[in-house]
Amino acid sequence: MRAAVRDEYGSIDVVRLEEVDTPVPTGDQVLVRVRAASVNRGDLDGLAPRPNFARLFMGVRSPRNHGVGLDVAGVVEAVGPAVTRFKPGDEVFGDMFVFGQGTFAEYVCAPERAFALIPTGMSLEEASTLPHSAVLAVQALRLRNGRTIEAGDRVLIDGASGNVGPFALQVAKARGAEVTGVCRTEKVDFVRSLGADHVLDYTKVDYTKAPERYDWIVDTDSHHSIRRVRRALRPNGVYVTLGGTAMPILAAMVVGPLISVGSDRWSGLLLWWKPFRAEDVETLKELIAAGKLKPVIDRRFPLSQVVDALRYVDEGRAKGKVVITM
Ligand SMILES: NC(=O)c1ccc[n+]([C@@H]2O[C@H](COP(=O)([O-])OP(=O)(O)OC[C@H]3O[C@@H](n4cnc5c(N)ncnc54)[C@H](OP(=O)(O)O)[C@@H]3O)[C@@H](O)[C@H]2O)c1
Repeated sequence: MRAAVRDEYGSIDVVRLEEVDTPVPTGDQVLVRVRAASVNRGDLDGLAPRPNFARLFMGVRSPRNHGVGLDVAGVVEAVGPAVTRFKPGDEVFGDMFVFGQGTFAEYVCAPERAFALIPTGMSLEEASTLPHSAVLAVQALRLRNGRTIEAGDRVLIDGASGNVGPFALQVAKARGAEVTGVCRTEKVDFVRSLGADHVLDYTKVDYTKAPERYDWIVDTDSHHSIRRVRRALRPNGVYVTLGGTAMPILAAMVVGPLISVGSDRWSGLLLWWKPFRAEDVETLKELIAAGKLKPVIDRRFPLSQVVDALRYVDEGRAKGKVVITM
């Protein structure tokens, strides 16, 4: 089968297509013929590890996993003898973050717990946009202790035009929040089309210096310092950041919770992420069935153009998800 692989860390140019053996499912494994695989920031972060200390987990000198790609949607081709939930022909999707990655390929093989049936009535291309980013969006709107947003809350999504942001915005709207999205000038109309009540252009407005205050801020990439962003919180407000480079991540991990002690505001890094958590996948399916969540696909690239797809996302050109089709 053809698969996108890389042997070393580096720019997008380290990714190439190669002919590799098609896996054979054993035990509780499922072999899926990939139909669509969407691109995430996490795919790019994994090429030249960001934050750089992620090398400690991925391989210090070179990557342990040579495959590229997290999100997948496809059709079950074959199952191992211990598989109970799926049969050949089932349409499934999943996030391969903890299952060796490698979804930019003609097949993926992983334990059956890695997959779920795609949402009813949804295309495989649309389903491939959900596993990584939409699950992150749901979990960024809920703290480890279960506290989440309420109807009427003022929610700000900083990074509303990326992979996670459009899902976070729609989930917050579905729960009755008044939602502000932050993005660059060229994407203001796109973010408004997702249902945002207000859209701020970060090239013109710094929301941490504006008078508005929020009950919940999701920052997809630590765009402001913790101290500045806390000023934009209402009493009892929450700031959750998802990622960034090493220093902002460490600050969010350590300083954020520390300065929250004895304060009525909570700030910190999303450390409770559970990839493709079944309950959150069900929540997404319910929102989709109710017409309250809809993936937006900007562009499709064939597998032969996987490098162009990665570059398109890396350059911030996408207005919605980018899907690699097989
Ligand atoms: N915590 C965890 O467990 C966990 C797990 C997996 C992934 N992650 C992290 O989750 C994040 C996912 O982000 P994503 O995939 O949504 O990223 P993305 O698609 O790259 O989106 C980045 C967003 O940031 C916006 N942006 C760029 N520069 C900005 C600025 N100066 N001010 C305000 N906004 C700016 C972009 O807006 P424009 O496009 O309009 O410029 C875009 O909306 C990544 O950081 C990833 O590492 C965290």
